[in-house]
Amino acid sequence: MAAASGRGRFITLEGMDGAGKSTHLATIAASLRAQGRRVLVTREPGGTPLAEKLRQLVLAEPMDAVSETLLIFAARADHVARVILPALERGAWVLCDRFTDSTLAYQGGGKGVPTELIRALARQAHPGLSPDRTLLFDCPYEVSRDRLQRAGRPPDRFEGQSRAFFDGVRDAYRGLAAAEPDRIRLIDGSRPPEAVPPLLEAALAGL
Ligand code: TMP
Repeated sequence: MAAASGRGRFITLEGMDGAGKSTHLATIAASLRAQGRRVLVTREPGGTPLAEKLRQLVLAEPMDAVSETLLIFAARADHVARVILPALERGAWVLCDRFTDSTLAYQGGGKGVPTELIRALARQAHPGLSPDRTLLFDCPYEVSRDRLQRAGRPPDRFEGQSRAFFDGVRDAYRGLAAAEPDRIRLIDGSRPPEAVPPLLEAALAGL
């Protein structure tokens, strides 16, 4: 979607847990606010009361990959209609922690759900809406594992998956970035956190 003037911008953050996405989200929000932008920070799955309930189910209940995909898109359709589109129309810049690229990477690349199914659901859940810019925090599996272990919280249903699963997720993400280099900007998440903010600024230039 080309962002018309007056309308806000839709920015998504992607990557494996432990690659730094959530740490840097606050930095990006603060820097946009300092430029005078109205900013809405939200996340997926989640962002509305219904979508947060669906998030609890998806992160905790054992289920097959297609059920998981359908619940994630139910949450997404509600979030887009009630929160994301109204905010963009009010002129806010929406910073969303994960969006459909996560489904293509985790359910598609990680679990083998057909990409055509995911893309068809995306066309129904958010017709015509695609992020104006996506920051993909990328780092080797070992780096993200170490960070999660040091954080010391119990893994959710995704964080406990195998090495092969995460290799599939990372490959899918990198494939998406190669296919859409203008929208998806790769951020080296293995760098120390203090080295990342200048990379973020460059990745958001021109919006
Ligand atoms: P978070 O820890 O970044 O909030 O994300 C929660 C988990 O949900 C994370 O392990 C990735 C997973 N997830 C998917 O598998 N597919 C999706 O479409 C989304 C949005 C998240």
